Amino acid sequence: MERLILAITGASGIIYGIRLLDELSKNFEVSVILSKNAIQVIKHEIGIESLHEFKQRFNKPNIKIYSENDIDASVASGSYKTRGMFIVPCSMKTLSSIASGYADNLITRAADVTIKEGRKLIISPREMPLSSIHLENMLKLAKIGVIIAPPVPAFYHKPNTIDDIVNFIVGKLLDSMGIENQLYRRWNGQ
Ligand SMILES: Cc1cc2nc3c(=O)[nH]c(=O)nc-3n(C[C@H](O)[C@H](O)[C@H](O)COP(=O)(O)O)c2cc1C
Repeated sequence: MERLILAITGASGIIYGIRLLDELSKNFEVSVILSKNAIQVIKHEIGIESLHEFKQRFNKPNIKIYSENDIDASVASGSYKTRGMFIVPCSMKTLSSIASGYADNLITRAADVTIKEGRKLIISPREMPLSSIHLENMLKLAKIGVIIAPPVPAFYHKPNTIDDIVNFIVGKLLDSMGIENQLYRRWNGQ
């Protein structure tokens, strides 16, 4: 199975990361990294109380789950080959660490590795409104080829439910990695 990395940080929109994990785990070996702060937001937004509970919920042979402290995990090294990495949702703090090369935990290290190895890094930053600091960090990364894909919904596919909106965002993220999906209705003209 081809390998992918998915990091989930402490920004709002955990549901996107979880939906993405559901999709990726159908066809890929997925290394999931959760930041400490992601666990806090997961409690608020999803009701999963701990990393332990998260591991139980996603207990599949092709899903490996790490905390940000597992700095000796395989994904910390460029010699461990992956197709690329998603960070969904991405906090402004993790964004800024990556933009400045400050690889102090497994998420920022894996992102640093993904960039240095020339692999695809897709970041879904979530904040509103955005300051010029946030925008400059995104621009810096976009200039070196990182895909900045904020979870901004569209309405041309006429969503009726939150699920429709989540599937649209996750479908677009998969598109960015070049992964076939039918998660949303595409615009085919009038
Ligand atoms: C409920 C909740 C929602 C949050 N939403 C966001 C957000 O959307 N964007 C953001 O940048 N930070 C958000 N934060 C703040 C981050 O969790 C905080 O900056 C943290 O240091 C991020 O750390 P991490 O990137 O290591 O996960 C939120 C915090 C909480 C408790």
